[in-house]
Amino acid sequence: MLAHIDAFARGIIRDAGAVLLRGFRAPDLVVEYKSRTDLVTNIDRESERLIFDALRREFPGHVIIAEEGSRAEEGDDYVWYVDPLDGTNNFAHGIACFCVSIGVYSRREGRMAAGFVYDPFHDELFHALHGSGSFLNGAPIRISTTDAVDISIVATGFPYNKKETANNNSREFCSVMPEVQGVRRFGSAALDLCSVACGRIDGYWERQLKPWDCAAGAIIAEEAGGRVTRYDGSNFDPEYPEVLATNGRIHERMMTLLRV
Ligand code: IPD
Ligand code: CA
Ligand code: CA
Repeated sequence: MLAHIDAFARGIIRDAGAVLLRGFRAPDLVVEYKSRTDLVTNIDRESERLIFDALRREFPGHVIIAEEGSRAEEGDDYVWYVDPLDGTNNFAHGIACFCVSIGVYSRREGRMAAGFVYDPFHDELFHALHGSGSFLNGAPIRISTTDAVDISIVATGFPYNKKETANNNSREFCSVMPEVQGVRRFGSAALDLCSVACGRIDGYWERQLKPWDCAAGAIIAEEAGGRVTRYDGSNFDPEYPEVLATNGRIHERMMTLLRV
């Protein structure tokens, strides 16, 4: 089954990436506001429809949970978490940092089974299957070897409802920022996790995520040798909206800095 999932997901995610590329910086892009800060475009919806319809046909017995509302709820083992466009704010502003993210969770095993993240602008396809390592365009990738926080580049993100809640990452940001070489806010949780996986950055933390944001990237970071947990070091769970992903070497120190 995993080989089938792998071959299918790598094909469909490239097709969805082509939809994103066609809509990127296009004059007829339609932007709607789910809230003042949370955008959705016609391209998010088109990409989701393509993936959802294809998944339904190929795996009728699997659960599908997609960000823009598509659901297939009857199924036993596999759950597909689909983010048809991660980095929508970047996309809507013409900033070339966005991707399609597809994570596959096995209920039977109680863990992620596979993850696929495709950045069509840079033509980078990240993928991982449980126990088999992580790959970028078919070549194996590994986490960085940076072993101290003060020479680390880390990334984070802030929730859309940041004005309404004090739990908006400002305390954690102020705690980490002076201690590291640099903090980045790229605007795509899935690509942040893949950047940890391939060693471009040394760590990433964010709260209030949804499973479609982080499920795929989490297994890709882990299979590349990274450590992926909640802030307190307990097991990552895609349904629990908190992730700290690092190269492992800076994990304990990051956990301490996030305890604010
Ligand atoms: C968002 C991005 C962003 C993260 C937000 C997510 P979207 O997803 O991953 O980096 O900070 O929490 O909601 O809305 O672009 O799919
Ligand atoms: Ca997302
Ligand atoms: Ca999205």
